[in-house]
Amino acid sequence: MVRVQVPATTANMGPGFDTLGMALKLYNIIEIEETSGDLVIDVEGDGADLIPRDQGNIVYIAAARVFKLRGYSPAGLRIKIINNIPLARGLGSSASAIVGGLVGANIISGSQLSEKELLNMAVDLEGHPDNVAPALLGGIVVSTTDDGEVKYCKIDPPVKLKCVVAVPDFQLSTKLAREVLPQSISISDAVFNIGRTAMLVTALIKQDFSLLSTAMEDRIHQPYRANLIPGMKKVFAAARLAGARGITLSGAGPTLIAFCDDNTNLVASVMKKTFGESGIRVRVMTLEPNPVGAVAFNLMK
Ligand code: HSE
Repeated sequence: MVRVQVPATTANMGPGFDTLGMALKLYNIIEIEETSGDLVIDVEGDGADLIPRDQGNIVYIAAARVFKLRGYSPAGLRIKIINNIPLARGLGSSASAIVGGLVGANIISGSQLSEKELLNMAVDLEGHPDNVAPALLGGIVVSTTDDGEVKYCKIDPPVKLKCVVAVPDFQLSTKLAREVLPQSISISDAVFNIGRTAMLVTALIKQDFSLLSTAMEDRIHQPYRANLIPGMKKVFAAARLAGARGITLSGAGPTLIAFCDDNTNLVASVMKKTFGESGIRVRVMTLEPNPVGAVAFNLMK
């Protein structure tokens, strides 16, 4: 049996749409075991009732891709998923399932695929690299694709960075959150985001939090997604007043994530209260950035 611990992730980080992502210290556990029987999938934890137990399960789909590529045919599989990452909330739950399935199946089939090959497969399954790259590699990852191949650069998260997440009690599918985006944007909005993305990466490397409030602004996706998340703009304003250095949608939302150095308790309570004023109940958590990506334990030996 192989056990894989995969971190949650926050994608986009404001302006870095489909490009920037960071791993967080919150984990899903995915176990995969080759058996002589049929496919058996057990799920525990957040959203367990909503996760398919058949061949439509994303951990299974990812694992089956690896087995097919390797020409490996397990008779049966037992998959267990312990889901601690809130489901369909913008914290990389599907990326964790994909990465867990790929990494686990690679070990079962003889560990022949490289990290790069696994990353390319993960991006192919997810459609964009900004969650799967930090889920696999840890840290903050800048990633892009070139001729179908993922190119990435990893940055260590600033040591003092703390993230307050407010997770609404409703799900938002990435598909829907992408459907509201325009097909094209103006040159001025493109320049707005290019400048801020470059500034954000530089500020994170230099650990200069004073630039984050400007550097985490965005005009490519958040303005269009705001209507899907009641109270979003008010929570942004209130969190900044409470001392958050920057605040953004986490991935496609609906979770909001505030980057802080201190004041995390105040920021958390203000985000909860302000969401509540718009009728949205949230769970708040303070999470640290995670320099480490997926970790696998081979229990077959
Ligand atoms: N970059 C993606 C988006 C992340 O914003 O749609 C979703 O997981």
